[in-house]
Amino acid sequence: MGKILVVDDEPHLRRILISNLKQEHHEVIEAAGVNDARGALAEHTFDAVITDQKMGDGEGLDVLAAAREADPNLSVLFLTAFATIELAVESMRRGAFDFITKPFVPEVLLASATRAMEHTRLVRENGRLRDTVVRLEGSSEISGRSLAIRQLREKIARVAPTNATVLVTGETGTGKELVARAIHRSSLRAEKTLIAVNCAAFTETLLESELFGHERGAFTGADRAREGVFEAAHEGTLFLDEAAEMSLAAQAKLLRVLTDGLITRLGSTKPRHTDVRLLVATNRDLKRRVEEGLFREDLYYRLAVVPLTVPPLRDHREDIPELCALLLAQAVRDLNTPPRRISAEAIRTLVSYDFPGNIRELRNLIERACILSAAEEITPENFPVSTPRSANGLAPRNSAEITPDQIAEMMPETHNLRDFLASLEKAVIQRALKITDGAQAEVARRLGMSRSDLSYKLGKQRIKDAPG
Ligand SMILES: Nc1ncnc2c1ncn2[C@@H]1O[C@H](COP(=O)(O)OP(=O)(O)OP(=O)(O)O)[C@@H](O)[C@H]1O
Ligand SMILES: [Mg+2]
Repeated sequence: MGKILVVDDEPHLRRILISNLKQEHHEVIEAAGVNDARGALAEHTFDAVITDQKMGDGEGLDVLAAAREADPNLSVLFLTAFATIELAVESMRRGAFDFITKPFVPEVLLASATRAMEHTRLVRENGRLRDTVVRLEGSSEISGRSLAIRQLREKIARVAPTNATVLVTGETGTGKELVARAIHRSSLRAEKTLIAVNCAAFTETLLESELFGHERGAFTGADRAREGVFEAAHEGTLFLDEAAEMSLAAQAKLLRVLTDGLITRLGSTKPRHTDVRLLVATNRDLKRRVEEGLFREDLYYRLAVVPLTVPPLRDHREDIPELCALLLAQAVRDLNTPPRRISAEAIRTLVSYDFPGNIRELRNLIERACILSAAEEITPENFPVSTPRSANGLAPRNSAEITPDQIAEMMPETHNLRDFLASLEKAVIQRALKITDGAQAEVARRLGMSRSDLSYKLGKQRIKDAPG
């Protein structure tokens, strides 16, 4: 028995859900949309939330966010139609506990709800459990026996015990974050904190405040003083992800930390000392950012003392079978699906694929196959890679390539260059929005632009947030 919040804008479906849950003597509160759900979350303490994905006044992800805010331990279940499985997988990655496909089987619903409530209670009882789980998951090793990966592991082992700043570069999804975590784990600071900050996720001021902290009143909304991650990670490691997105002002401050170990909170003049090991990652060509005047040259040389490049998956294909086995085991565990195996032929298909999205793309393909295929064995048909599509939705490198010349030929006579490029840009962004089901953070990541850049462009082009 427990207390459950049911969020769905369809009264009929809500009634069926509620009657099922009540039969098991659960207490149920209903909400007809995101706003309603917010109200209920503020008023009651729940053991689980069951929410629809798309509602009149928002999405299931909004409910998830609201639930997280109300109670970080609360398990959220998504109801999902078959067609939105991709979204469901994404929701799970963002912290949903599980999802239930519509039309649902009452037994499945009840079993899921029970597990969700048990999980909530467990985590509540032992607030540290989640930490441990995260740490265990995060401790997954860098797998692979190829020369490229062995060399990478060797380099990590050599650089980890030093205090050197490491610049980790590589294409999207190659495992840069994993490398950063591995460095911390093998370092002398392993017992201290590792804090990771995604520089692309903040506006300029907020990033500076996140990194260096602020005094009360330093900017609008700064209603109390707050320490930044450079202080919080004292004696530990700080991982700055997507570091190329840092503003020039933040770069200047970062340079200061690297030269004399001093930081100054926003709105303060008092420098504070900090002892932090810095790891930095980017999928951008930093050298080029320097040439373009977007990244400080002096900072670049300080960061690039120990450069570490993570190879794209197509350069170590021989690791694909081993990675498949590992990622399959992880998918079965994380998605709670029955055990699966991958056919030899399916592995061959994957080995010959180019993986523009690298290991993350491989992981996504395997997760999707686990969810979509009911059979015990995953076959090539379960992978939509016969017509390869790259992570950013553009054609992959080795497909029949369209040359810039050909694109140039397509420019209508009536257009000037600016309009033509703008329409091209709009098309690329819209396509990415469609592929990601409107997830802007993901679009920004795929297209290698900052979120603020993207929102600016969206505003300018009035591209709708939702896929058209
Ligand atoms: N060698 C590896 N062995 C096992 N799993 C890996 C390996 N490399 C990457 N992964 C997995 O692939 C996924 C992507 O890795 P990660 O997030 O570290 O990539 P990234 O380079 O930081 O990507 P991005 O540039 O998009 O931020 C993660 O789920 C990670 O656990
Ligand atoms: Mg990353």
